Amino acid sequence: MVKPRVYVTRQIFPDALDLIEKHAELELWPEDEPPSAEELKAALSEVDGAIINVMDRIDESLLAAAPKLRVLSQVAVGLDNVDLVEATKREIMVGYTPGVLAKSTADLAFALLLAVARRVVESDKWVREGNWKISHHPMFWLGSEVNGSTLGILGMGGIGLETAKRGLGFDMKVIYHSRTRKPELEKKYGFKYVSLKRIFTHSDFLSVHVPLTPETNKFIGEKLLKTMKQSAILVNLARGGVVDTDALHKALTKGWISGAGLDVFDPEPVPSDHPILGLDNVVVLPHIGSASNQSRREMHLLAARNLISGLNGERLEECANPEVYKSLGI
Ligand code: NAP
Ligand code: GLV
Repeated sequence: MVKPRVYVTRQIFPDALDLIEKHAELELWPEDEPPSAEELKAALSEVDGAIINVMDRIDESLLAAAPKLRVLSQVAVGLDNVDLVEATKREIMVGYTPGVLAKSTADLAFALLLAVARRVVESDKWVREGNWKISHHPMFWLGSEVNGSTLGILGMGGIGLETAKRGLGFDMKVIYHSRTRKPELEKKYGFKYVSLKRIFTHSDFLSVHVPLTPETNKFIGEKLLKTMKQSAILVNLARGGVVDTDALHKALTKGWISGAGLDVFDPEPVPSDHPILGLDNVVVLPHIGSASNQSRREMHLLAARNLISGLNGERLEECANPEVYKSLGI
């Protein structure tokens, strides 16, 4: 029997590749840089399925040029790079990888929160530059107290919940705002649901976990940033586009807020001369929320299983457009 053809747009763990190779004829993009839009379009025009990444833009014109495509398997939970409506229209199943990365991404939210609050990166740099001349100075390097403070979670989904749970471990009071209220989480963990306005005005640390959608695009701008406490720290592990970067720069330089921890940026990658990189009260990471060995391997294996199910015409373990099943009759 002729095996289906698949394209993998970035390196993945060898056991995930082995799994795919048992079921399909595989082509792997060999570079660290993602394929260009033209290269991606050309590659997907000939295959039955693909493993894709957050940097691969899957739009209407690319899908129109890919008549054989039956399944797209994204190695991520965010899907702002994929035109899901168009994929569904074309009866293409779209897999994704929720859950398996929630804990590691929440760990990193806390790494960022603590790093900014307690000035970890800034003071490490100071030591390495040879400035540590007095063993212990009572007034040097004072930061913000994390324990006992209020943690605001914007977007109480998989990652928001894991971040909130970590807050409880630090004796923080957890408030949240989300599209849907979660009474069961309020009951189980004591989280408090608050209005959008209140989460900005009352959080000492505001951790952002909403997806990037037309509704959340540049959602956190001057107006909301000005309502935050001057002592507040913003942590963004969602997508850079949820925050208006120019407004954030203003907020950080004019003292509307005291700091920010950013794992994501708009634009990505951040240009090395971007003014935000010149600020001491910001820690910027290169989009590594899920980058633990364990999580990434789980993501790659889940993406491989989603791909194989789609190639077999079966329902996916994690499908982002389950409405497609109806037209596929599965
Ligand atoms: P999720 O489980 O779908 O959670 C998203 C939450 O946001 C849901 O609770 C959703 O509400 C809520 N929400 C959606 N739109 C909203 C709006 N306009 N206002 C308020 N709340 C809104 O997703 P997740 O797994 O937690 O991931 C969240 C995002 O994190 C992803 O979309 C991705 O962009 C980003 N991410 C980044 C990294 C990284 O490496 N930095 C890693 C993984 C994910 P409902 O409960 O009503 O659905
Ligand atoms: C990573 O950014 C993801 O969405 O999983």
